[in-house]
Amino acid sequence: MNQSAHPRPIRYGLIGSGYFGLALGRGFLRQPGARISRVYDPENAEIARRELGAVPTASIRELCESDDVDAVIVASPNWAHREAVVQAAEAGKPIFCEKPMALSYEDCSAMVDAAQRAGVLLMSGHVMNFMNGVRRVKRLIADGVLGDVLYCRAARNGWEEPQDTISWKKRRELSGGHLYHHIHELDVVQFIMGTPKTATMVGGNVAHQGEHFGDEDDLLLITLEFENGSFATLEYGSAFRWPEHYLLVQGTLGAAMIDMTDTGVTVRHSGTEERFLLHRNEEEDAQRTAIYASSSMDGGIMYGTPTTTPPLWLTGIVEQETEYFHGLLTGADPEPEFAALTDGSAARLSIATADALTRSLAEDRKVRVAEILEGAEVSA
Ligand SMILES: NC(=O)c1ccc[n+]([C@@H]2O[C@H](COP(=O)([O-])OP(=O)(O)OC[C@H]3O[C@@H](n4cnc5c(N)ncnc54)[C@H](O)[C@@H]3O)[C@@H](O)[C@H]2O)c1
Repeated sequence: MNQSAHPRPIRYGLIGSGYFGLALGRGFLRQPGARISRVYDPENAEIARRELGAVPTASIRELCESDDVDAVIVASPNWAHREAVVQAAEAGKPIFCEKPMALSYEDCSAMVDAAQRAGVLLMSGHVMNFMNGVRRVKRLIADGVLGDVLYCRAARNGWEEPQDTISWKKRRELSGGHLYHHIHELDVVQFIMGTPKTATMVGGNVAHQGEHFGDEDDLLLITLEFENGSFATLEYGSAFRWPEHYLLVQGTLGAAMIDMTDTGVTVRHSGTEERFLLHRNEEEDAQRTAIYASSSMDGGIMYGTPTTTPPLWLTGIVEQETEYFHGLLTGADPEPEFAALTDGSAARLSIATADALTRSLAEDRKVRVAEILEGAEVSA
């Protein structure tokens, strides 16, 4: 670690030190000059004190206003992100906020506005964008190798067995359910194709009712239409006995399969087929494949707990995203590819589409995403 290259150490305050807050804390600690100086967590602050060396604080406000906090990491449950982000912005601190940014477009807007008013970064933990294979596919698309993108298809599904205790992640009001909690695929589709014109969702809770399950919908089928005549479909849920987890991009000149179960990326164009790694090395890809192959529950719907250690591949991309955010705070040049990821705008747009999809399901109709963006109650 070369401290002299980074004369100003960055002291992070961590809000929420469960499974992923600890993973992010470890990721940031690997960056030169980084410390986790403070933590706020109503239940698990002690683990962060022991493992990350962070001093527990009594409230979010106290953490955000602490003189020894230069930047704030928000990894609390999804429903709690808004308050933490707004308070951090009001304290003038740059923010790294886990996905989903919040559970409504309105909440996201309040967060983005607060960050803009304060002139601080608001980076979302849309970690898929940091997978090497995803970045390479985006470059191939930008270079025209796949031609015009006509269609994207994504699936993130598996089967959920009865649970002894019901995590907040399985409660619609707290996590947003599969669509919001696993916003990653929708976000990457939007990075590739832009904001959809219309959003349609059907589905419901078809096989997971009762005391051993949460109340989220377990089968969601999504269709998106784009202004330029292209389309996307996505499947999410825990009512799928045949698990799938992938993103397939179909262009006029070629296609790319980003496969998260048989982990790797395959690109076909001009009569050739090329396969490359999704993550940083063979070991990370192979471990991910092995996890999917060995698990009775699909990895696409598996959930960590404060005592779970993340897999290698996830540790790897957390290292990549924390390195990027820390780099921005210590003077590195921003990369255009990630601009919409560091001002909250991409995360807010994916929630706009998720809100349109939620309205589509509730009202049994195709919804224009503009209805959400403009806050208008317009019928399709
Ligand atoms: N990017 C990814 O791939 C990824 C993976 C896992 C989780 N996440 C996100 O990270 C966030 C945390 O998830 P997790 O898996 O660590 O959950 P978790 O349940 O393991 O941890 C949540 C922690 O937040 C604490 N908490 C509860 N209420 C709080 C509040 N009001 N303020 C601060 N802390 C509070 C809990 O005590 C707990 O320690 C979620 O937003 C989740 O979506 C992202």
